[in-house]
Amino acid sequence: MTSITVTAQAYAAGARVTGLDLRKPLTPEQIATVQAAWHDHLVLAFPDQDLTAPQLIAFTAQMGEVERNDNVPYYRDPDYPEVLLVSNKPRNGKPSETRNTGRNWHADLTYTDRPAKGSVLMCKEKPPIGGDTMFANMYMAYETLSPVLRDFIETLDAVHDITLIKGFERRDPAQIADMKRANPPIAHPVVRTHPETGRKLLFISERIRNFVGMTEEESRPLLRFLNDHATAPEFVYRHQWALNDVVMWDNRCTLHIALKDFDQSQPRHMMRCSMRGEKSGYVIQPESKDDASLKSALAAVS
Ligand code: SIN
Repeated sequence: MTSITVTAQAYAAGARVTGLDLRKPLTPEQIATVQAAWHDHLVLAFPDQDLTAPQLIAFTAQMGEVERNDNVPYYRDPDYPEVLLVSNKPRNGKPSETRNTGRNWHADLTYTDRPAKGSVLMCKEKPPIGGDTMFANMYMAYETLSPVLRDFIETLDAVHDITLIKGFERRDPAQIADMKRANPPIAHPVVRTHPETGRKLLFISERIRNFVGMTEEESRPLLRFLNDHATAPEFVYRHQWALNDVVMWDNRCTLHIALKDFDQSQPRHMMRCSMRGEKSGYVIQPESKDDASLKSALAAVS
């Protein structure tokens, strides 16, 4: 059996993993090696893995419970609900609704009560240059804050809002209305502890409207500071895709962004499978006693 090689790609995150054929079930030892590398490097790239949708699902299932994407049903592969199609190729004769997916810093599905544990993205078609994805290390982001600020943000919950997906308002209006109903604004803690590594991390994103108990105006400067800090170049790994790359990231301790750094007339077609995360957060309901959150929540869905 070929041995697994793990080669770090950047200081902050990212490793290239060779010596595995992801089309086949992994042995318990191989799974343990991959999981350990994942915890060390947060983002793993497996080159030359030409997976079908069922093979991608089967690989993901070895890493966690597979998400069925019920919160964003329109973007699924019609034959495989576990697979989201992140693609700029026209669908049913119309421009793809996911052609601009991931254009602000985020972790997947934080606008739900089960933010993804991880995601696995497979490159089926790519432009000759660009179409890169960047990942940022949220342990480093947390650990490099000053102790006083760390203590303060530990007290905060942040309101994650699906409507803050960049370009969301330009998508199909009926689908948007449906997804807003299915995904009301939800609050998650700003500092979380990774359930497997036990390390604290900054759970921030550009899809946050405000902090619970604070107005949007009050929240904005701190949010901007935290997002800028979290995505500083020294915390970032930039993945330059090759055809048939499979990249698996830990969604609990990274942010990512899909760059529009390519010729949009060229196809970029990716298949994404996610692993379900732990239940977290609370929906910001109109009956909430918290006036500031209430106003923001209403503004987001009106
Ligand atoms: C995503 O945000 O999940 C998609 C990332 C990408 O297409 O690079």
